[in-house]
Amino acid sequence: MTRLKALRKHINHVINKMEDPDKRTGAIAHLYGVSLAAVMLAKKRGLDPEIAAMAGMLHDLHAYKTGSYDDHAHKGADLARKILTELELTDEAETEMICSAIYHHDDKASEDSPMDEVLKDADVIHHCMNDPAKPVKEKEQSRYDRLCGEFGL
Ligand SMILES: [Fe+2]
Ligand SMILES: [Fe+2]
Repeated sequence: MTRLKALRKHINHVINKMEDPDKRTGAIAHLYGVSLAAVMLAKKRGLDPEIAAMAGMLHDLHAYKTGSYDDHAHKGADLARKILTELELTDEAETEMICSAIYHHDDKASEDSPMDEVLKDADVIHHCMNDPAKPVKEKEQSRYDRLCGEFGL
């Protein structure tokens, strides 16, 4: 089993406890969608796609687990650290990279480390492309425009 598969198994277990079936499906679609987008972005930018995928899988887990988005990025980084330490899938530097990306993922207006930016951009890609008929949110427009430029869209 790859370590991404092992992590997904753990995350599936947490998500499957969500009671509302629509919210549960939405959570799965978002985490796997962001994870896939993060792999593409990491490969394009010469970063580790496996780490990007793991950050994508974990980034909103705290919100889904608790049902609250209150400070979910910072709290989510702590939860991710706990899970990664427990599962022993990553070394210290990898854990730091994943937790930093999750910690900063809601700061879409600022620019952070390259891996932090991969996760923010992957999140925006899923928000903006999961339903092309949905208008792009104002706070995500400039990042989305930059991404369309990067991918020649
Ligand atoms: Fe989030
Ligand atoms: Fe998200």
